[in-house]
Amino acid sequence: GKCIGVLTAGGDSPGLNAAIRAIGKSALNAYNMQVIGFRDGFRGLMENRTVHLEGEILSGILTLGGTILGTSRDKPHKMPVGSKVQDMTEVMIDNYHRHNLEALICIGGGGTQKNAYRLAQAGVNVITLPKTIDNDVAMTDITFGFDTALSIATDAIDRLHSTAHSHHRIIVVEIMGHNTGWLGLGAGLASGADVILIPEIPYDVTQVAEAIRRRRHRGKNFSIVAVSEGALALEDAKELARLQDKKQAALKDDKKQKKAAAALAAFQANHATNTLRLSAQLEALTGLESRVTILGHLQRGGTPTAADRILATRLGSACVAAVNERQFGCMVAVKGESTELVDLAQVVGKRKTVPLDHPWIRAALETDACLGNRVG
Ligand code: F6P
Repeated sequence: GKCIGVLTAGGDSPGLNAAIRAIGKSALNAYNMQVIGFRDGFRGLMENRTVHLEGEILSGILTLGGTILGTSRDKPHKMPVGSKVQDMTEVMIDNYHRHNLEALICIGGGGTQKNAYRLAQAGVNVITLPKTIDNDVAMTDITFGFDTALSIATDAIDRLHSTAHSHHRIIVVEIMGHNTGWLGLGAGLASGADVILIPEIPYDVTQVAEAIRRRRHRGKNFSIVAVSEGALALEDAKELARLQDKKQAALKDDKKQKKAAAALAAFQANHATNTLRLSAQLEALTGLESRVTILGHLQRGGTPTAADRILATRLGSACVAAVNERQFGCMVAVKGESTELVDLAQVVGKRKTVPLDHPWIRAALETDACLGNRVG
């Protein structure tokens, strides 16, 4: 029979194994196709490290977190070799043909969609699935992994609530989400956080302190501040815009571009420092004691929720159906109750941020959450 390849790339995400299982089972059961997995994302495709996905290997993995295939954040067109970089596209294409593959399924977030698109442009029959806890992939309503991370973050904030309450403290809890606020806003809303700070709304720390002081006047001596890792104070948002402009302006100068990109990356990697600073500022401005909790990779670990298992299974089987119909160069996206195929060109290079008129924003505001600044 025919054979399909599959790989998981980028940060791991609950539901990956459910997707791998669905691909393996649907391929075999519905179309009599074989599936091989490449290990550790695109690296396994470069190094031709594979595993046959059949029988026992697919059994018992639906409920497991992580990915049985392993993953990596490698950029295959820019693999470091000594102090230089090498484009591994041709090597990957050779390995793809070595296995006589019908198609390659790439499961991942924004970065993976980009890498997959490059392979599609180089002639490989590529199809992708959207996975990330950040929910920031363009052109799909939702990504798998998000619901699980949302539940974990919500549960964590619930637990922080009782300790903040008992000690009359502020607890600043940092939530993942890269440069978008889906996870922070969702978890903040679900757990009734008093302050919710997201990257889409640069915050004014004096407004945050004011909201906490107002609560105090109402007899509430504690506050939960849910802050997305990508959230920025107004002055930092300005600095970020300046660094982005600088990178854009250096587009034609390779050396300058590299320097500007590094400065930007360093600035964005500073989230833990920002969160600690926010906590210290709030202590100083409110007179309340404050503690910081960084949820970190807890949010990506462990068993997926029922919703993520169902979503990943649906997407996995829809993907194999698309391969069977020879639909390539696209991503299987979620649109309402169904799935649809979206051209990869429409997905890459975009990031789905939280629109300011999103119902979650309104719901947060109308239930007394402080979003750190005026909205709109
Ligand atoms: O994209 C998923 C994510 O967990 C982001 O929320 C976070 O910014 C990033 O990955 C962390 O990356 P790493 O696992 O490489 O530290």
